Amino acid sequence: MARVSRRFQPIDDDLPRELIGRAFGSLEYLPRVRSDLSQMDPAQHGFFIANDRGSAVGCVVVTSLPRKKWFDVRHLALRDAFSNLETGEELIRKAMGYVEEGGYEYLKATTPAIQPYVDLYKKFGFTPVRRSLRLAWDLARPLGKASGSVEVRDLSIDDREGVEEMIMRAHLPYWDWWLEERGGTAVRDWAGRFGFPAGTWLGAIRGGKISGLAGFSPDAYGDGEARLTCFCVLPEHRGAGLGSTPVVSYS
Ligand SMILES: CC(C)(COP(=O)(O)OP(=O)(O)OC[C@H]1O[C@@H](n2cnc3c(N)ncnc32)[C@H](O)[C@@H]1OP(=O)(O)O)[C@@H](O)C(=O)NCCC(=O)NCCS
Repeated sequence: MARVSRRFQPIDDDLPRELIGRAFGSLEYLPRVRSDLSQMDPAQHGFFIANDRGSAVGCVVVTSLPRKKWFDVRHLALRDAFSNLETGEELIRKAMGYVEEGGYEYLKATTPAIQPYVDLYKKFGFTPVRRSLRLAWDLARPLGKASGSVEVRDLSIDDREGVEEMIMRAHLPYWDWWLEERGGTAVRDWAGRFGFPAGTWLGAIRGGKISGLAGFSPDAYGDGEARLTCFCVLPEHRGAGLGSTPVVSYS
């Protein structure tokens, strides 16, 4: 069986491509995985790699969430998952040992919905609680026809208060778990945590108020490949093209 050990060096490009890319194909967006992993300090998070005869055959990453003693086990990926379940179990065992050692208050696991991975976590007592949907918009298609009048403008530091309120209101109730992981409703600087005002922030203004916004981090995934770091529309304005309008004007 493969040998699992903790890795203290940053994750290089090969691992996401060879393991995560092969395991999940289009279900994972590799530039994002790479960018997230490269920014993580291996002393603060648990990187575990399974090696067999000199090559990596599995990995898992225990992420310390911004809230103290809260963890998310992510990026469990196996070469030939169906015939490599023992390695998967060993990786999860090591990940659990790591969080138990430091003491934890909350532990969750996140995986693309591929059966062997879901089953592995279930075997360790995890219960599925939520599914994330990924929306893919073809930006070459004429999207972004907001119904009614809407103005799109660059947001600046003067808009901070509006952006702050908007982020809180627009992410509830569906993203309550996400806000909790980052400190809950007591946190007052969501805009700053999303990077505002760094990068490009576009607001969709209706009735004089910011009703939708899109915050971009230009070139985050390479030349000309921006990351949409924050994107939301107030509940009462959804489904009317307010979300896609700033995204299309940016692209
Ligand atoms: C996601 C969100 C920004 C979309 O804003 P919106 O103004 O409702 O989007 P639009 O009206 O511009 O929709 C554009 C297209 O996406 C589709 N769409 C929007 N939300 C969708 C959803 N939840 N599921 C499926 N399709 C969706 C629309 O049907 C539309 O498609 P069409 O042009 O073929 O009709 C908004 O629902 C929101 O703020 N959600 C909460 C925060 C969030 O989840 N942000 C994204 C992750 S951080």
